[in-house]
Amino acid sequence: MKRDFISIKDWEKEEIGEIIQLAEAIKNNPQKFSSLLKGKTIVLVFEKPSLRTYVSFMVGMYQLGGNALYLGPEQAKLGIREPIKDIARTLSRYVEGIVLRTFSHENVLQMAKYATVPVINGLSDLLHPCQALSDIFTIKEKKGKVKGINLGFIGDGNNVLHSLLYGCSKLGINLYISTPKGYAPDKDILEEAKKFAYRSKAEIKLCSSPLEVAKNVEFLYTDVWVSMGQEKERRKRLQDFKGFQINKKLLSLAKNTPYILHCLPCHRGEEITDEVIENEKSLVFEQAENRLHLQKAILIKLLG
Ligand code: CP
Ligand code: NVA
Repeated sequence: MKRDFISIKDWEKEEIGEIIQLAEAIKNNPQKFSSLLKGKTIVLVFEKPSLRTYVSFMVGMYQLGGNALYLGPEQAKLGIREPIKDIARTLSRYVEGIVLRTFSHENVLQMAKYATVPVINGLSDLLHPCQALSDIFTIKEKKGKVKGINLGFIGDGNNVLHSLLYGCSKLGINLYISTPKGYAPDKDILEEAKKFAYRSKAEIKLCSSPLEVAKNVEFLYTDVWVSMGQEKERRKRLQDFKGFQINKKLLSLAKNTPYILHCLPCHRGEEITDEVIENEKSLVFEQAENRLHLQKAILIKLLG
């Protein structure tokens, strides 16, 4: 039975732990894994731009001895040139795995339903699971553990936060969240995450201000205020997110300066200042690097 990587919520906490452990082993000794996926090919079907996800999956697959192909926005006209269900069944006859980056999350579900090979969610409007798992790996590297760690998220209740909600609640990471009015995370995801959190004894706290978050956490995360596909809302969003920037002033009010996390790309001067991104406690390039190791672990888990 094939397995997909669409949402962290579909994976048991033990399995997630195994993926992170495997990523650690790969990072420590990449050579050992260099021919595990020999003769296998994945295809990346991307409707949105990408730097990290694109390059880390392509390079990751090569480093595992396999091949990777890229179909960018020009070719990936899902449902326009032909229905996703036809694309899924056709691609399944050529390759051993599909990584999809798309707008509607429904597209990922459709692709997974009709593909007979594993489908990996390389970002949808709803979720960004590869990112969140890499970030949790980054936290584990810094602290040697994840359970009981306090992570804060300030900004938009978007795809990245949704996947962090699932990942943190499954693994026992406390999540402090502050979003402007109207930009809270999806209600159903929040409810599901609360159920996972109950089991893992994690706390999910919706805070009244960015300051309340900053004061309580060891890691502080933010993401862009205008995600891919939301460009038309830009003016309104910049207005609505005022006061939610991670900057030096906010950090100076925290008891201990937290590590800074951002999935990148960032918009310096909007959700975060240049000074904070370049700060010595910023882990953003460690996060970017860990995308490679973590995704290699996912590829081995699904295709190995
Ligand atoms: N963080 C992330 O997914 O980056 P890309 O959009 O560049 O892939
Ligand atoms: N929330 C952002 C993440 C980019 C990696 C977006 O969807 O554009």
